[in-house]
Formats: sequence, C-alpha cells, structure tokens
Amino acid sequence: MNKVINILNNIEIDDVLDIATGRGQFIQFLMKNLKNYNTITGVDNHSKSIQMARESFSEYEDVNFIEKNFFELDPKNHKYDAVSVSNSLHHFANPEKCLNKALSLLKQNGYFIISEMHRNGEQSESQKTHIMFHHWSAEIDNHNGVTHYRTFTHEKLIKLTRNLDIINKKVLKFSYPYDKKNQKEIKSYLKKAINKKLESIDKNENIFKKMEEKKNRILDHLDEYGFASSEMTFIIGRKR
Ligand SMILES: C[S@@+](CC[C@H](N)C(=O)[O-])C[C@H]1O[C@@H](n2cnc3c(N)ncnc32)[C@H](O)[C@@H]1O
Repeated sequence: MNKVINILNNIEIDDVLDIATGRGQFIQFLMKNLKNYNTITGVDNHSKSIQMARESFSEYEDVNFIEKNFFELDPKNHKYDAVSVSNSLHHFANPEKCLNKALSLLKQNGYFIISEMHRNGEQSESQKTHIMFHHWSAEIDNHNGVTHYRTFTHEKLIKLTRNLDIINKKVLKFSYPYDKKNQKEIKSYLKKAINKKLESIDKNENIFKKMEEKKNRILDHLDEYGFASSEMTFIIGRKR
C-alpha cells in the first residue's frame, strides 16, 4: 500500500479522468493521495451510481461527473493528464478494447493508472469473502444478461496491459487496510446487498436454489471471518 501511495504522492497534474467510476470510490483514493490536481472527472453509464457520486462529492467543486458510456467520449474534444480505471475491467466484454479507448483519452506523457482486484495470490479469509461475493454477483449478472467476469488473476492483468503503448510501467500488489472498526456496518450493508441481488432472479428459475445456497455459504464465511477488500493489482505508466 505504501509503495502505491508514494507513487501517487509524487504526481502533480491538471485533469484526471476516472473511467467507470461507479460511486466514485477510487476518486476518494486519488484525492487523498495525489500530490496535486486541478480537476477529477468520473464517468459512468449507470445513472443511479452517478447520482450517488454527485451527492457524495457535492461539496467539492473540483470533482465532477459525466453520465455516459465512456466509449462515446471523444479524444478530439478533451484529453486528460491522467486516466484511471479501477475495479472495472472485469465489467467490460472486451477489457483490452476498454484499455485502448482509455489510453486514447490520455495526453502524451500522461499517467495511465489501473487498479483492479485479483483473485489469486495470498488472500486472507476476510479478503476471500470479497472474492466469493464478487464471483457470486458475477454469476447472477451473467445469468441476467449483464457482462461481469470473475475477477482476473494478477498475471492476467499484466498480460492485458502488455500491448499498451505506455512507458515507465510499474506493477505492484497492494491491499486496502482491514477496517476492523466498521465490520458491523460492513456486514449489515453486505447482507442487505446480497439479499437484494438474489431478488433479481425469479424464485421459479432453476438457478435460484443454487444461488441461494451459495449465498448462505458466503454469509457464513462473512460471519466467521469478516470482510476486507481483496488484494489489488496496481499498474501505472506514461503514454508514449
Ligand atoms: C464495480 S463498478 C465501479 C467501481 C469503481 N470504479 C471503484 O473503484 O470502486 C463498475 C462500473 O463500470 C461501469 N461501466 C461498465 N461499462 C461502462 C461503460 N461502457 N461506460 C461507463 N461506465 C461503465 C458500471 O456502470 C459500474 O458502475
């Protein structure tokens, strides 16, 4: 974690674009750790997430959001000094296409930042809760016709970025700290979220029972070990 923070602590830039920002979770991390920036823009095509992001960042004039499929952003209109993609690559049917489009929105010499959870390596039991929860959600999304891969391995993420035209590339692994103090709230939030997600399948569908059983196993694991964000792959480089 410290190595990642040290890298960000040395970056001074103007405009940042966070692709597939969701509720803007990674923007918080960038705001806290970048040495300096002028603006951060988050783009996402999910209306509810953008609405929540706008609400939670309403007091920051230098953070703004665009509700859009990011493939529709035109590099001729605006290029950024840094582009980030966090925990989203596995939501794209073609992650390499996503990375190439992201790179096109970056100025020459700009920073390309990828931060993505991976499923292998040495994960604690609480980190495994995250991975289990994630893969279960992906199974439901795929059943419902929404693209959502299982999380990638660390090595696969490196491979995905192999042909990107970036220089000074650094690859690191890091983990967000285990939030011991807020486990009760986290557990209660996750329980609500997992039950709500199961409701997206009709009880009469064959898959329902199987997903309900899996859900119960994940909740048992959550009760026993708690939750921590899974280990991350962090890749940073500059556009040639
Ligand atoms: C796991 S969430 C976001 C995670 C967030 N970046 C973070 O670091 O926690 C993945 C997001 O990708 C968004 N997404 C998927 N395809 C997209 C596209 N073509 N354009 C913009 N956003 C997209 C989804 O709407 C979803 O909010």
